[in-house]
Amino acid sequence: MSLIDELKKIEEISIKKIEKAQSGDDLESIRVEVLGKKGSLTKILQRLGDFTAEERPVVGQEANKIKRAISDRLENRQQEIQLIDLEKVLSEETTDISLPGKWPRIGHQHILTQIIDEVTDIFLGLGYQVAEGPEVELDYYNFTALNTPPDHPARSLQDTFYINMKNKDGRPSKDDILLRTHTSPMQIRVMEENEPPLFYICPGRTFRRDVADPTHSPMFQQVEGFAVDKDITFGDLKGTLETFAKEMYGHDRDVRLRPHFFPFTEPSAEVDVSCINCDGKGCRVCSHTGWLEILGAGMIDPNVFKYVKIDPEKYSGFAFGMGVERIAMLKYKINDIRLFYENDMRFLAQF
Ligand code: PHE
Repeated sequence: MSLIDELKKIEEISIKKIEKAQSGDDLESIRVEVLGKKGSLTKILQRLGDFTAEERPVVGQEANKIKRAISDRLENRQQEIQLIDLEKVLSEETTDISLPGKWPRIGHQHILTQIIDEVTDIFLGLGYQVAEGPEVELDYYNFTALNTPPDHPARSLQDTFYINMKNKDGRPSKDDILLRTHTSPMQIRVMEENEPPLFYICPGRTFRRDVADPTHSPMFQQVEGFAVDKDITFGDLKGTLETFAKEMYGHDRDVRLRPHFFPFTEPSAEVDVSCINCDGKGCRVCSHTGWLEILGAGMIDPNVFKYVKIDPEKYSGFAFGMGVERIAMLKYKINDIRLFYENDMRFLAQF
């Protein structure tokens, strides 16, 4: 085969390979193979010295022509491949503007806040006012002025978190600082500062030294309510609680009062509502009694009035206190008080 034919053959093969190349790497290895230092075309050009003076320019010209042709073709194919790659990227990475957007998660009130608002609304409708007070309280307001002196047996019923005890021997004193065990100290604070008639509710956090279990939490919430005026009777208390129970739990609810004891009310009662699960027929929720306990209540003890300098001969009053978690648990059939405080969105988002 003549040298010119050899060159033509190299050109032909190279162009074919270039057409088939799929990437920049493919093209680069073809370039090295043909035009590189040890490339097939380069080798021929290195042999130019072996030729006669007549042959040399002919072969040289032809070789250079072919070299240029191959270089040009390499460059063109490189551009083609870049375009193909770009097309590919563009088609794979397109933005689908018809996809739905991502919505930010919008918060809402905690279930217990909702319950407190509901209770508050019912009593605002009955003409009550709202008062809030300290969670860190003096013994005087939490116990002493509520007719619970230091040696009173009822103190042991409410295991208290003390912050500062005055007596070194652990005997309680009216000056001790503690976390309030109920919202009843607000009765004292409001009565101390205001003249009857008084119609108040006082929602807030309360604390007892209980180990957390399905029905106990060391921190829980109560709503206190009380009314002080001339001629307030036990019948007024019952009527008020009936109205509340019907508003809160439904209009076919019944209320019953069972005798009970609280140091700050006399007489005292525990108040039940007919079971919201079985309508009073008896079921698992109400332990087959037909009734659910919802709050403690009673007529304000004359001894309490003496502490706040309200004349028990002139005025009378009732008071009641309810657990907010318990209301929510009954209303929504929640079986574990700890759920309210674990901040599990799967639970909270249901309300
Ligand atoms: N403070 C009482 C408790 O926490 C409830 C109560 C309030 C009872 C007002 C009577 C009157 O158990």
